[in-house]
Amino acid sequence: MMRLVDVTVQFGGLKAVDALSADLDAPVCGLIGPNGAGKTTLVNAMSGLVAPRSGRIEVDGADLVPLSPLQRVRRGLRRSFQTEQVVEDLTVWDNVRAVLDHVSAGPRDVADDVAEVLQFTHLSPVATQLGREIDLFQRRMVELAKALVGRPRLLLLDEPGAGLDERESTLLREALLKVQAFRGAQVLLIDHDVDLIAATCQQTLVMDFGRRLALGPTDRVLADADVRRAYLGA
Ligand SMILES: Nc1ncnc2c1ncn2[C@@H]1O[C@H](COP(=O)(O)OP(=O)(O)OP(=O)(O)O)[C@@H](O)[C@H]1O
Ligand SMILES: [Mg+2]
Repeated sequence: MMRLVDVTVQFGGLKAVDALSADLDAPVCGLIGPNGAGKTTLVNAMSGLVAPRSGRIEVDGADLVPLSPLQRVRRGLRRSFQTEQVVEDLTVWDNVRAVLDHVSAGPRDVADDVAEVLQFTHLSPVATQLGREIDLFQRRMVELAKALVGRPRLLLLDEPGAGLDERESTLLREALLKVQAFRGAQVLLIDHDVDLIAATCQQTLVMDFGRRLALGPTDRVLADADVRRAYLGA
């Protein structure tokens, strides 16, 4: 359960996130909006990479704002980046395993946790390959796998579907729908692919100029006249 209360993030005179409030409680929540709407900035504020000027960011009832990024990771908050952060000279296994140098695998054995997550993300066949040897889809899956080891509670995924072909996008979609059952974690998904959002997100928040344009069940939000005008160009 995520609760944003009056969150503002300011860069000089620009309010990239402007007094945003939202309760997001669905297993997979969508976050959409035009380029520059403030989606990545909101995720940066949630993960602790930028400090909000004001507001509260609550996950399961606790305010994250006073916590460091690492403290947030240890509370189960994970994020993937719009540009994948794969270490080219490490194997896929070690890229994922490295996360567990910083967070506990919980009751699971470290190797079991990594193996289960690689299986879930279709990476088992390339576990021993180096970061520089794998393709774009596999790099995206490494990002997802890094977010899934070590008892995550909330995954913030910034455009994991960008540039994927139809088959790969289907695999991603299936994985997102299974995250809650697999690890009990909630997902906040940013993507410009409205079909991916419609297929995976029960609830969707739409941002425009840092503000909340709409929030609700995804089908209702995508049919909203203001959303279609601002975002879908209708
Ligand atoms: N570090 C920064 N310093 C100054 N301005 C910034 C910074 N980061 C983002 N911005 C500005 O804040 C606004 C929101 O940017 P943000 O990257 O959050 O948008 P976005 O919704 O993720 O867009 P996209 O869909 O293109 O990824 C933009 O106007 C952007 O130029
Ligand atoms: Mg962005």
